[in-house]
Amino acid sequence: MAFSDKLRSGVVQHVKPLLSDEGWAKLRGLDPTSRTRDVDRMRVQRDEARARAVKAEAINQAPDHTTRRTEASDAADLRSLAGKYRTDKWSHQHRYTPHYARHIGYLRNEPFTLLEVGIGGYARELDGGASLRMWKEFFPRATIVGLDIEDKKFVDEDRIISYQGSQVDPSILDRILADHPDIRVIIDDGSHVNEHVVETFRLLFPRLHPQGHYVIEDTQTAYWPRYGGSPDLLATHTSMALGKRLADDINFQEYTDADHEPTYDQANVVGVHFYHNLIFVDKGSNDEPRTSFPHN
Ligand SMILES: C[S@@+](CC[C@H](N)C(=O)[O-])C[C@H]1O[C@@H](n2cnc3c(N)ncnc32)[C@H](O)[C@@H]1O
Repeated sequence: MAFSDKLRSGVVQHVKPLLSDEGWAKLRGLDPTSRTRDVDRMRVQRDEARARAVKAEAINQAPDHTTRRTEASDAADLRSLAGKYRTDKWSHQHRYTPHYARHIGYLRNEPFTLLEVGIGGYARELDGGASLRMWKEFFPRATIVGLDIEDKKFVDEDRIISYQGSQVDPSILDRILADHPDIRVIIDDGSHVNEHVVETFRLLFPRLHPQGHYVIEDTQTAYWPRYGGSPDLLATHTSMALGKRLADDINFQEYTDADHEPTYDQANVVGVHFYHNLIFVDKGSNDEPRTSFPHN
């Protein structure tokens, strides 16, 4: 038996019975050879680290859970309203409603104006207005404006206002903007003709609220010649080409030409989100600094 072990065993046998528990614990703590003290300290440290990790996880998870819960319930509500009013934004054709819940669900209880190009029903009498009614119920404080090339006056009611005209006619767009100067959300669900989609964006995006959202539906027509689209994936005139160009615009600060002057879109697009047949464009001040890495 080593001397230190003999000493420890003697102390345990003869000294421990003379001390209180507290005194014995103190003496053990003073024993420089005691591994028990190190093990205890490590246990305490480990337990504290675990408690810190659990707390950090709880803090990190809480906002995510909250966000997910809100988004999920908005998505469920919107999907059921799409069914109630029979808009194809959730249907065998499209699965748009969860994306709307994700991107504009935060406006649910805000007073704001939403413009949808394309009221529905085409030239059929008393047909259309499904999505406008869905938006009205989903956003109880919003004003819902619709534009259609056909006369859709029959949809007008409290908080729903329709206009008749083409989505590429600046005079009707001017009239809408004069009546509703602060539009927060614009949805293009009109002709789906590529030239129209691109031109409508050009006319309306600069006049959208500085933190607004611009949505283009049915981008499948970008590939369809019947709608002025092209099967050439590098075509530059389609709605998809517009979306891809905007994605590049977000990074204009990184172009190798340091003197590049940003276009309106480059200065005002902060997000582009592509989904199946659907694009969301987030407007904002795209003023993040150029990175400091060598650009050439
Ligand atoms: C797909 S429907 C809209 C559906 C509606 N947004 C909904 O979700 O219930 C398309 C509408 O766009 C309209 N439209 C077609 N060409 C247009 C144009 N150049 N300008 C404005 N509206 C147009 C049609 O009359 C039709 O009612």
